[in-house]
Amino acid sequence: MRRSRLLLPTLKETPAEAEIVSHRLMLRAGMVRQASAGIYNWLPLGYRVLRKVEQIVREEQDATGAQEMLMPTIQSADLWRESGRYDDYGKEMLRIQDRHERDLLYGPTNEEQITDIFRKSVMSYRELPKLLYHIQWKFRDEVRPRFGVMRGREFLMKDAYSFDTDFDGAKRAYNKMFVSYLRIFARMGLRAIPMEAETGPIGGNLSHEFIILADTGESEVFCHRDYIEHDVLSHAVDYEADLEPIVGFWTEKYARTDEKHDPAAFAAEVPADKQVSRRGIEVGHIFYFGTKYSAPMGATVSTADGQSVPVHMGSYGVGVSRLPAAIIEASHDEAGIIWPDAVAPYTVGLINLKTGDAACDTACEDLYNRLNSNGFDTLYDDREERAGAKFADMDLIGLPWQVIVGPRGLANGQVELKRRATGERHEVAMADVPARIAAHV
Ligand SMILES: Nc1ncnc2c1ncn2[C@@H]1O[C@H](COP(=O)(O)OP(=O)(O)O)[C@@H](O)[C@H]1O
Ligand SMILES: [Mg+2]
Repeated sequence: MRRSRLLLPTLKETPAEAEIVSHRLMLRAGMVRQASAGIYNWLPLGYRVLRKVEQIVREEQDATGAQEMLMPTIQSADLWRESGRYDDYGKEMLRIQDRHERDLLYGPTNEEQITDIFRKSVMSYRELPKLLYHIQWKFRDEVRPRFGVMRGREFLMKDAYSFDTDFDGAKRAYNKMFVSYLRIFARMGLRAIPMEAETGPIGGNLSHEFIILADTGESEVFCHRDYIEHDVLSHAVDYEADLEPIVGFWTEKYARTDEKHDPAAFAAEVPADKQVSRRGIEVGHIFYFGTKYSAPMGATVSTADGQSVPVHMGSYGVGVSRLPAAIIEASHDEAGIIWPDAVAPYTVGLINLKTGDAACDTACEDLYNRLNSNGFDTLYDDREERAGAKFADMDLIGLPWQVIVGPRGLANGQVELKRRATGERHEVAMADVPARIAAHV
């Protein structure tokens, strides 16, 4: 993509309304713009990150055997009356009437909808287990939408739902999601720690929140230090094998959210030098809630001995549109964002220090084509701007690599290659640039 053509309205000044660094940087880097309170437009650069995040979530969910589908944003109030949540949900629910005065709502979550699909489609225990998910916009009329996309009113969530005949089956589904979540966040360069959590308005009795440690987080959390350093991606996972050893490792030591925190147990179980008490951002949340919806809504299956039993369910959410902000909270410096490679909107930023100079223009066009054809998405800053402004913009938007082309280096066939995360710079021969990036040096 050529910078001169891209809709990328970067800002030099810090927007006054933004309280936390990720919100400031998302506005300054031209990723999002507020449409109304807690509702955001995703501009091209931001949307590329959102799609990469979504794709990682999709790949890791698919790996568990979960099946992707799509449910609508607008739901019927009658379904929610069946579960009893139409009244319970209160003002957080956006309620709508159509022209026939039928009550509708913009879905804040999808337990009722998926339970309705299930009860109409699955009749026998032989068809279980089932694990279904979708990635869809939600609306919750939050009292205090804040911190940009971190706590929006409209937000994108991946929500999965599991159906099993009994608790043991449901626990196997829970374990699959638990392990899948560890991998999802690790692939985004995040260290997310599963912490015992309260089950909240969705209800139930087994629940973990996946938390990223950050001073700007809304939750207070307490955990054993060993969990912070653990490398998740070093071993492959077989989702058909018993996952209890992995889940056991992550649940044997203390890691709890505020509501579940017990200071006496924390002091007794965790040595003083291992006690971590910090703030955190919730990026995912998994629940087992048994027959809470299947019983009132009549989602039953017939068993081997001909009985009819309500299915055991769980639900599993990832805050897809919260993640770009959470990643920025975890990865930035004074100059701007530092994207982990896996979610960067482009891999390379190509800077032409002297647009209009024939040698620089030719070299840049050549590099631009070569990088793209080698599979490195490249944003080429071809504008007639001061070098200083181009450097500042490129650091701000935080692409992992910068290739800087100027007349002085070119005289010797050299360009500069800079790694955004470390600031390390190397003079390299033009022809070597793609190979150097591929080799990460
Ligand atoms: N208002 C919001 N804005 C952005 N993301 C949200 C919002 N509310 C929840 N999420 C994300 O969706 C995930 C699943 O939501 P859930 O656990 O059902 O919400 P809650 O924790 O508010 O009950 C959360 O872990 C969080 O990452
Ligand atoms: Mg939650």
